[in-house]
Amino acid sequence: MDPHFWHDKWHQQQIGFHQQQINPFLAHYWPQLALPAASRVFVPLCGKSLDMCFLAEQGHQVIGCELNDLAVQQFFSDNQLAMTRTSADEHQHYHTEQISLYQGDIFSLDPRITADVAGFYDRAALIAWPEEMRLAYVRQLASLLPPGCVGLLITLDYPQEALNGPPFAVSPTWIEAHCSEDFEIQLLDCQDVLADNPRFINKGVAWLNEAAYLLRRK
Ligand SMILES: C[S@@+](CC[C@H](N)C(=O)[O-])C[C@H]1O[C@@H](n2cnc3c(N)ncnc32)[C@H](O)[C@@H]1O
Repeated sequence: MDPHFWHDKWHQQQIGFHQQQINPFLAHYWPQLALPAASRVFVPLCGKSLDMCFLAEQGHQVIGCELNDLAVQQFFSDNQLAMTRTSADEHQHYHTEQISLYQGDIFSLDPRITADVAGFYDRAALIAWPEEMRLAYVRQLASLLPPGCVGLLITLDYPQEALNGPPFAVSPTWIEAHCSEDFEIQLLDCQDVLADNPRFINKGVAWLNEAAYLLRRK
């Protein structure tokens, strides 16, 4: 995906992907990961997601990576968190005591930053990539995560021909075929969420499934 696409979306505040509530799958399934409170948790392509507040409330140290500067700044201002900003190689590092956001491209994130994370959370990150870039993202994510690290992956699946992504449709078959080299995969839940998504209804999309997977880095 061209970085300009995302910069434009943030500049125009066309951020329909941003949720005003904590993701229900996160609230429900995160305890199953059984991570100690002080664990470090990586959130790739984090946007200004409130889910990071949920993770911090569990006691975790949250490490996010986000391309767009405005998204990162809005995360801290929306949540009235006073942060410090420093430079970390080509990324800008915005941090509080518990939340560290690295603004820049995930493909150039220093792997030392995530080397000791115990958990990760991917919502609307994998599905933000078109098919031709998705596998490269999976490989990059895997390269940033240490063996044994556990995470929650939340995806959407729908008849792709009905709509242009993002979000792009990612099926359980795709996950199995392309993620099993790097991760053990367990499908936790899959629900039809069409009724909650007017954009999909308006485009005549026949069905829309949201799925949650537990992934363990091999
Ligand atoms: C669909 S949004 C999801 C944001 C967040 N996960 C959420 O649930 O609200 C995808 C985000 O990925 C960011 N992004 C896109 N390409 C990126 C890259 N190469 N490195 C880091 N972040 C990127 C975009 O700016 C955008 O905020």
